[in-house]
Amino acid sequence: MSTPLVTSLPDYTEPAQRLASDLGYNYQPIRAHRFPDGEYRVSVPTQPPSHIIICQSLDHPNDKLIELLLAIQTLRPAGVKRVSLVAPYLCYMRQDKAFHPGEAISQQIIGHFLADLVDDLFTVDAHLHRVDMLQQAVPLKNAINLSAAPALGEFLLQHDLHPLLLGPDSESQQWAQQIAEVGGFDWAVANKQRSSDVDVRITLPNIDFQNRVVVLVDDVISSGHTLAQATRELQKAGASKICCLVTHALLADGALDLLHQVGINDIWSSDSISHPSNVIHLADMLASELQTLFRS
Ligand code: R5P
Repeated sequence: MSTPLVTSLPDYTEPAQRLASDLGYNYQPIRAHRFPDGEYRVSVPTQPPSHIIICQSLDHPNDKLIELLLAIQTLRPAGVKRVSLVAPYLCYMRQDKAFHPGEAISQQIIGHFLADLVDDLFTVDAHLHRVDMLQQAVPLKNAINLSAAPALGEFLLQHDLHPLLLGPDSESQQWAQQIAEVGGFDWAVANKQRSSDVDVRITLPNIDFQNRVVVLVDDVISSGHTLAQATRELQKAGASKICCLVTHALLADGALDLLHQVGINDIWSSDSISHPSNVIHLADMLASELQTLFRS
């Protein structure tokens, strides 16, 4: 079999090139032109090898899923037999049930769409709340969900902060606990009640935050309201410094301004989604997992 080629859409060039370099494979871009009406013209590498690794995060998913569909359906007839999708951020995982009659269970629908499109899927800290395994959402033998927690924990260890880690809600317990274990940090979890996209109530656990450096840890910052409200509560409780550390810096419109307005000190993220807050590169971890799978 010929050497695989790594490719990506234009917004994810640098992380994809880092992955290609770690794997020792070549990189070539997928090009996408957006027409004024929102349609895409997508161009893939010509004469592709039989195995393509597409390294592409799926933030802004409604555009990127279409771009991926067009790219992969162009690569297949050109001789590509195996498509490995490395999507460090996997979209549509949060809507995992119909909360009201008639709602689409997006996790299942998009998961099945991807399973039909690619042969392997690697992602990081997928938001799996009511399901245990990624295969339940994306029915592929090689649907692999990695954790950025060890890398996030190592990052914190390099900073002499002696932090208290706080997950803003029960779903974040897994990340708070795993990151804390890396550095032996104190950790706790708050309670969150969400009544709308922008209306969030946070109740802090009954511990002493006075003069503590608190690092809020979560899988995702989206609107920023979860971490903004947690910051306000921590300020009232006397925390001396409040930072946040997340895997996926989705940071929807206005989120960064909101977090700065409430006075959060630092925002750190992995490069699962390209953003100026990226301080942790995931390429080493991803390359090692891909090599393990490809060797098996
Ligand atoms: C929810 O369960 C997630 O873990 C995040 O806490 C949430 O998605 C963050 O959303 P936002 O930034 O919009 O409050």
